[in-house]
Amino acid sequence: MTRPMSNFASSTIAVPDYQAVPRHVAIIMDGNGRWATSRRLPRVAGHAKGVEAVRATVEACARRGVEFLTLFAFSSENWRRPADEVSVLMRLFISALEREVTQLQKNGIRLRVVGELAAFEPRLRELVAQAEARTAGNTRMTLTIAANYGGRWDILQAVQAALREQPELGRRPELFCEEALSSRLAMAYAPEPDLFIRTGGEQRISNFLLWQLAYTELYFTDAYWPDFDAAALDRAIESFAARERRFGRTSAQVTAATPG
Ligand code: IPE
Ligand code: IPE
Ligand code: MG
Repeated sequence: MTRPMSNFASSTIAVPDYQAVPRHVAIIMDGNGRWATSRRLPRVAGHAKGVEAVRATVEACARRGVEFLTLFAFSSENWRRPADEVSVLMRLFISALEREVTQLQKNGIRLRVVGELAAFEPRLRELVAQAEARTAGNTRMTLTIAANYGGRWDILQAVQAALREQPELGRRPELFCEEALSSRLAMAYAPEPDLFIRTGGEQRISNFLLWQLAYTELYFTDAYWPDFDAAALDRAIESFAARERRFGRTSAQVTAATPG
């Protein structure tokens, strides 16, 4: 089987177009537990409050014309947490899917869930499939939830798929190109993120979109995720808009290439 070329420019093959409002925003929603602990609440209260911040952020991004919003909800490594916290996170995910899809539909938002979904209980997988099917025709913004997602898992499954679908790549590895891999990543339907945001004060990637973050602008804020809102999003976008994205070129080249 041959795959269609992906519709989006690779930042390492060509200099992509970009504008003041990021087309694709990817967020590590971190700090729910500390938000709760600082209020002497159980960690799960932070996760529940975090769902509200998700709602506000989805709406704010859609209003600002962001085309793709990607939220890291559960990493491949989050299974290492206590079993009761993992099960609360699963229940929250299920109830959010049950309650929020109608609103997404009303707002013209397409939902996608990426990650190793086979590990989830059947009820959750079924709700994900229904929500994706119901919102598939929406074009205003694509909201991607990364669940049981890991950047290394994504790269490995893409390589495995490429070798499975094009066995000749195993015999002639020099034919293995960027496109063979990037077109099989879980988010091949989206351009590379323009802006990465991590809340909660840590400055690390924690196995999020490893391949796609090659030239993404990184923004870190100390705010805990449950406190993140439209104003906090605007500060991140403002920081993004003030940056010079060079993609390997000199500043003079960038200035010459940008009219006005
Ligand atoms: C992010 O908040 C939510 C998930 C990782 C599921 P945390 O739960 O990691 O919150 P902190 O980092 O412990 O404060
Ligand atoms: C990253 O947060 C994953 C998600 C937000 C889903 P973590 O809280 O798991 O990251 P580490 O462990 O501090 O790196
Ligand atoms: Mg954390």
